[in-house]
Amino acid sequence: MADISVNVDGLAMPNPFVIGSGPPGTNEKMICKAFEAGWGGVICKTLSLEADKVINVAPRYGKLKSRTSNEVIGFENIELISDRPIDIWEKELRACKDKHPEGILIASIMEECEEWRWKELTERCEAAGADAFELNLSCPHGLPERKMGAAMGQDCEIVEQVTGWVRKATKKPIWSKMTPNITHISEPAAAAMKGGANGISAINTILSVIGVDLETLRPMPTVEGHSVPGGYSAQAVRPIALRMVMEIARDVPNASISGIGGVECAADAIQFILMGSHTVQVCTGAMLQGFGMVTEMCEGLSAFMDKHGFASVDDFRGSAVQYFTTHADLVQRQKAAKVARAGQRSRDNEWQGDKITAQTDALTAQSGDGKAS
Ligand SMILES: Cc1cc2nc3c(=O)[nH]c(=O)nc-3n(C[C@H](O)[C@H](O)[C@H](O)COP(=O)(O)O)c2cc1C
Repeated sequence: MADISVNVDGLAMPNPFVIGSGPPGTNEKMICKAFEAGWGGVICKTLSLEADKVINVAPRYGKLKSRTSNEVIGFENIELISDRPIDIWEKELRACKDKHPEGILIASIMEECEEWRWKELTERCEAAGADAFELNLSCPHGLPERKMGAAMGQDCEIVEQVTGWVRKATKKPIWSKMTPNITHISEPAAAAMKGGANGISAINTILSVIGVDLETLRPMPTVEGHSVPGGYSAQAVRPIALRMVMEIARDVPNASISGIGGVECAADAIQFILMGSHTVQVCTGAMLQGFGMVTEMCEGLSAFMDKHGFASVDDFRGSAVQYFTTHADLVQRQKAAKVARAGQRSRDNEWQGDKITAQTDALTAQSGDGKAS
């Protein structure tokens, strides 16, 4: 069986699979269950200093289902960060570490844009036993109204500044979590690295409207007849997340990457590793399938590595990134391949009388139709 353990930014994990910030890491009980199920690490639900400012609504989720089955394709939420007080969280983080000293526990933190707030939050979480930090600069709904979350993550100067504040407050690894609701994700990712991050988590949810109720004519999820755009996750977002992870791997090569978005099984996770991810996070997948899904992910990763002869995850991480190029280069490669194929078919004894015109075409290099002949 292949060795699927990883060591990322000094964090030793039995596998690269991490519970992403959200309901699966919302309290001590959930975090401990995740460790017991075998997850390589857990990122807690995002916490802040003033939980009383966080007031959730219900319903706050919406599902997009397949047209032909009950399968959930996409998932929208308008959930805020944790509404549980920091002093309770301090006790629970400590209890998680006491029960699972080997488990990698990452504190997801978010605050308003003042240094003392980020410093205090970081120091309190570290004292409670956090092994590393994920900076939530990316929640797309609710918090931006308070100039937090994605409102910070969309501004490269703020990303660098906030990451720098946390860097000053701790020597532990820092991953800055990026919003996909931006044109070029590599820019804030590079800014976070400049501020002192060890790595980048990508992506948080994509701003979305899950649908409109055709009976009530109201947008969903509907709260007292009204709604707000929310964050989209689950398998529908995976292609967008893969593209963004590839861009970060290509443009910010010194960053460790924690890939997130629509991962539901080993095959999904392996694709994120091939795109350059050091770890792979799952949030909605665990909400839909339960913590036990990590067993298939570990077995599937190990089987994939055995099949391809990879001794470690490092052996194939990022190996698909080199095959992205420009459209003009694809056209050049196609042209060159066509000429080479024609060359291979040029032996005189391969001429057949009934195919003479097709064979003449195949040996004609200047064809402009773009089709392989
Ligand atoms: C209900 C819900 C709550 C979430 N809460 C948080 C949060 O508190 N902090 C955070 O950084 N991301 C949060 N996320 C985003 C996820 O961590 C993740 O980035 C995103 O959902 C994409 O991954 P997925 O498709 O595996 O869910 C939340 C996602 C969902 C679905």
